[in-house]
Amino acid sequence: PKPWYADYLRSRIRTVPDWPEPGVMFRDITPLLQDPKSFRLLVDTFVHRYMDMTLDFVAGVDARGFILGSVVAYELNLGFVPIRKKGKLPYLTEAEEYELEYGSATVEIHADACKPGDRVLLIDDLVATGGTMIAAAKLLQRLGATVVEAAAIIDLPELGGSRLIAEKHIPLYTICDFA
Ligand code: PRP
Ligand code: ADE
Repeated sequence: PKPWYADYLRSRIRTVPDWPEPGVMFRDITPLLQDPKSFRLLVDTFVHRYMDMTLDFVAGVDARGFILGSVVAYELNLGFVPIRKKGKLPYLTEAEEYELEYGSATVEIHADACKPGDRVLLIDDLVATGGTMIAAAKLLQRLGATVVEAAAIIDLPELGGSRLIAEKHIPLYTICDFA
């Protein structure tokens, strides 16, 4: 269920061809964040979706997931947990490696970031291959949490990530698609 104004938000996402490498159509959310009405509408969309759900905290993925996730957490009166790229978190961590188009990457979470039974909303900006979102969900699940839903602004369905996330039985909510 996309909001009726999804196309308005979508129109504020800039496409940069061949960045960061030839063949990639980069979906740039910075114009959406910079326009105050669009940013508010975007944040409010997530806040309204989750305000009546029982949640313990919001987790956001480094780095664009922090921008949205922390504001949504604040508005929902919840705490925020960062899931970071490898080597940035100072305390005891759990790590999950995942495959990128070329090579691999690792995300980490603090080992005490959640406790068994916690109900978590996981936020990032975009789902492409789904590798990042699935690795982040695995970290939360390894600590015993339940990912109530994964949320992002953009789905790139042709890259198959949203299908993989569904196969892992993680509910996914996105506001707009780019083919
Ligand atoms: C981008 C985006 C997602 C991820 C999606 O992050 O913000 O986190 O890629 O791709 P996937 O579904 O194929 O895993 P990126 O790694 O570029 O980092 P950034 O947020 O620091 O820009
Ligand atoms: N992350 C992975 N693929 C992306 C794309 N096409 N645009 C923006 N961020 C991305």
